[in-house]
Amino acid sequence: MKKRLIFLITILFSLFITSCKYDFIIPVPEVPVTGDVSFATNVAPIFSAANKCTACHKSGGQYPDFTAVNAYGSIMPALVNTTSPAQSKIYTFAGPTTATHTWKKLSAGEAAIILNWVTQGAKNN
Ligand code: HEC
Repeated sequence: MKKRLIFLITILFSLFITSCKYDFIIPVPEVPVTGDVSFATNVAPIFSAANKCTACHKSGGQYPDFTAVNAYGSIMPALVNTTSPAQSKIYTFAGPTTATHTWKKLSAGEAAIILNWVTQGAKNN
């Protein structure tokens, strides 16, 4: 009888454990607030390095024009939201988790730099 009870408890307990459902919530990357982000040295190269974004987003190509000389003027102000930086299109549209802009995406690190730049006021620095 006692054995049966232990057996039953074991079964119930294992059912209880296996019934746990884990939802993996991908955390929004913490914004590194270390030092000033420069548009020219930190942000613009994200778009143009290895032609990552400028392959399509170039002068006379797809809007916005991400070539270094035109990037700031092309992004501002339409793609930036300094009131709610995380809502900025420049951060979300080709962000690491986008389901629509599948051609090329920003890495989590690149997105964090861009978010940081917007948070600091989206300056042309
Ligand atoms: C293979 C071509 C291609 C590449 C490479 C590419 N894009 Fe795009 N992008 C497009 C197209 C096409 C659209 C317009 C699609 C749409 O509006 O749904 C677009 C739209 C956008 C928009 C929205 C502009 C608006 O109309 O408001 C943003 C922001 C953007 N891309 C950012 C990027 C970033 C950042 C990169 C680099 C990581 C990148 N794109 C690389 C093709 C590309």
